[in-house]
Amino acid sequence: MSAVRLENLTKRFLSFAAVDAIDLSIDSGEFVVLVGPSGSGKTTCLRMIAGLETVTSGSIFIGDRDVADVHAKDRDVAMVFQSYALYPHMSVAENLGFALKLKKMPRTEIERRVRDVAAILGIVEELPRKPKTLSGGQQQRVALGRAIVRDPAVFLFDEPLSNLDAKLRMAMRSELIKLHRRLDATMIYVTHDQIEAMTMGDRIVVMNEGRIQQVGAPLTVYDDPDNAFVAGFIGSPTMNLLNGTMERRDNGLAFQADGLTLALPPTHAAARDGAMTLGIRPEFLGLDPNHGAVELAARIEAVEHLGADTILELSTAGPSLIAKLTRNDRVHYGDSVRLWAAPDKILAFDSVTGERLRA
Ligand SMILES: Nc1ncnc2c1ncn2[C@@H]1O[C@H](COP(=O)(O)OP(=O)(O)OP(=O)(O)O)[C@@H](O)[C@H]1O
Ligand SMILES: [Mg+2]
Repeated sequence: MSAVRLENLTKRFLSFAAVDAIDLSIDSGEFVVLVGPSGSGKTTCLRMIAGLETVTSGSIFIGDRDVADVHAKDRDVAMVFQSYALYPHMSVAENLGFALKLKKMPRTEIERRVRDVAAILGIVEELPRKPKTLSGGQQQRVALGRAIVRDPAVFLFDEPLSNLDAKLRMAMRSELIKLHRRLDATMIYVTHDQIEAMTMGDRIVVMNEGRIQQVGAPLTVYDDPDNAFVAGFIGSPTMNLLNGTMERRDNGLAFQADGLTLALPPTHAAARDGAMTLGIRPEFLGLDPNHGAVELAARIEAVEHLGADTILELSTAGPSLIAKLTRNDRVHYGDSVRLWAAPDKILAFDSVTGERLRA
């Protein structure tokens, strides 16, 4: 395993920057997840690390080696794609051993490695079978196995689980996490699914429009987003983002958003005049009166009982809001309610740049 370092990495297609001056250091043995919406440059980034895409400018280090001019097959990385692309005419065992055979590894060594990897992935019984006779989950295991047998310095995954149904995807997610611990390998995993990112990564790298928006441990990024994009992208249901205007008054702050007024304490991070965006996570809007909390009136427009949680869609004098309560069967459609939010859970963002406003 090796550390990976990207320095000022850029990829242009004609004048369009798909990846725009990215700096990122990944520790040896780390599991890092690149997450962002479609088109944010995740795959392009991974393909450059793999050597499948040329670099417009910047450098890629694997270990201490600058690999910019190193051929893909000599970079010692293994990539697993969304489409498994198994060789249909070969058995599972032959699929697993193929890369080693190309390297002219002795047959007994290949057989040993293939058996070990099949045992790790629970596909020993499937070794003689052809890919088309396997389930989607089994095929994905074979695709993973083809990467593992090569014992690469770095694993690259591009949405490897997105063809699987929800239940299997969750099972494979936790298997991959266990596999990571067992192999102690450096892994870079790409997904557009923020829940997958939150649950799998040691650190997550949030990307948008070819740029890194924030890098950090999942809960750090969740609790302390650097900008409105990250705040809105990470978390489900998504954070309430209210566009409005702040005014400093003698007794505190008054925030106006389309007819909704929020009174905040004068010490709040948003203590400045002018346009801004306030962000409140749905779980920080509650129905219990709270001393010192920000209060607002709302009407329940929809109630979703999810079992452990109850989600409310709310209308106010201004923008609509989403609240997430712990299970509550006393709330009903049409009820008028008062909502409370602790001021320190209300984040503020610059209305133009989206940058977080901090105290
Ligand atoms: N070969 C190419 N020629 C021109 N533009 C490209 C090429 N490959 C990618 N792009 C563009 O670069 C941008 C980033 O693409 P990329 O595939 O890296 O996104 P992504 O984050 O992986 O998205 P997704 O979640 O949909 O897979 C997109 O706007 C895409 O259209
Ligand atoms: Mg992609």
